[in-house]
Amino acid sequence: MEPLNNKQLTTSKLFLVAGLLLLAVGILFGLIGALQYIMPGLFKKYLSFERIRPLHVSSVVFWIIFGAMGGVLTYLQEHTGKKIYSAVLLKIQFIIFCLSILAILVSYSIGIFGGREYWEFHPLLALPIAIGWVLFLVNFIKSMGSFRKQPVYVWMWLTGVIFFLFTFAESYLWVFPYFRNNVVNDMTIQWKSYGSMVGSWNMLIYGCSIFLMDKISKTKTYGHSTIAFVLYFTGLFNLMFNWGHHIYTLPTHAYVKHISYAVSMTELFILGRIIYLWRASLSTAKKHFYSFSYRFLAAADVWIFLTLLLAICMSIPAINVYTHGTHITVAHTMGATIGINSFLLLAFGFDILHDTCRTFEPYKKMFTTGYWLTNISLFTFWISLIGAGVMKAHWQMSISQVPFSSMMEQLKPFFIGFFISGCFLVTGFLMIIYPLLKNQLACYFNPKPGQIYPAYHSSNRLSVK
Ligand code: HEM
Repeated sequence: MEPLNNKQLTTSKLFLVAGLLLLAVGILFGLIGALQYIMPGLFKKYLSFERIRPLHVSSVVFWIIFGAMGGVLTYLQEHTGKKIYSAVLLKIQFIIFCLSILAILVSYSIGIFGGREYWEFHPLLALPIAIGWVLFLVNFIKSMGSFRKQPVYVWMWLTGVIFFLFTFAESYLWVFPYFRNNVVNDMTIQWKSYGSMVGSWNMLIYGCSIFLMDKISKTKTYGHSTIAFVLYFTGLFNLMFNWGHHIYTLPTHAYVKHISYAVSMTELFILGRIIYLWRASLSTAKKHFYSFSYRFLAAADVWIFLTLLLAICMSIPAINVYTHGTHITVAHTMGATIGINSFLLLAFGFDILHDTCRTFEPYKKMFTTGYWLTNISLFTFWISLIGAGVMKAHWQMSISQVPFSSMMEQLKPFFIGFFISGCFLVTGFLMIIYPLLKNQLACYFNPKPGQIYPAYHSSNRLSVK
């Protein structure tokens, strides 16, 4: 599991770099959306909420997808100790993904839609994404060669890559009238595919987390442990069946929904436990050496706990009736995609991108401030959404018939809290992303030989203060 130690901006690293750029752009769109909560109709002509929401959601979803691909591609090469099977295929995959996301963002900006929630872009743009993903699958399988006696993360990656392709295709079945014409079937397939797709990218991200934990502790303990395989099979079950809780409001059997919700929580619980046990087993020296990656893994562990708490509450049918369609669902989605997915991806980002021709020494303070700012503001951001959700839930179920506009007026203090904490959250994220991107790009365009630091030199690591 030796790092392929080079300071070049390889294509695998470029996936992470592009992902970080998408994150930076996506959170700025999110901030405009949050401002529109307080000032409805702001920028209505050119950047209405109907455009800003998909611009934000697609940018951050593609941050997760690009980041997961970058993590898998880099760690795959570190695992096999060999270069990727085809560098050319990888470059084509990268170009296809970049052009597709660019076309998607431009199409939203000029008001061209045609897709469905979360994938609101024109369905034709799904084709290059599927083709790019097939190239990823081919390169992954060919680079692995044999799958005998592999650690759990290899199985997680393989499962994630295959199932993402499958569920992505499934989420487009609605383009055929046969599926579209029956509303209940259509909605069931739609939400099933979304639930499973999240399960697929979680497989890629959780696999990378276990790889990184083994890398930091310099063992093969977690990749081959029973608990990690339990997580794998729970994740697989989850990926296939957890979608039941996405269709609470559709007329299907209640037990399907409850079993699936319970299973999705088991998965989080096991991942949390693995990270918790691993942290306890790690020596202080190793924590120091991998400081920032370690810190983000620790933060994700806290967010796993908070997401579990909220999910347990939302899984109670009597509560779910209230929370459905409120900001509590948004809090759940954003808490998980920021606190778990994005923090784990940042842990990989620090591990993979820290090794450049320039030192990170001048940015240590900025990283630390950004880290704490992100964590603290994310908590208030999350609480504001839950507060707004509770108020809206109360309004939805109330018999007093308060008009929608008055209810939205009552939610304003929560929206203001959401916007202010969002500003701090964006600042925190940018303080973390900026040095990572700056060092990579500066070294690419202007590598100064005098500034080259030996590979894995301790001064290129960020120690915990
Ligand atoms: C890593 C960062 C972020 C990720 C991964 C993320 C993810 C998401 C996701 C998945 C949704 C869709 C939620 C749903 O439909 O249930 C969403 C919606 C939204 N996000 Fe974010 N988000 C991020 C940061 C931010 C920030 C910093 C802000 C504002 C300051 C923000 C503001 C919004 C708004 C206003 C919505 C629309 C909610 C609605 O439809 O009412 N997001 N985000």
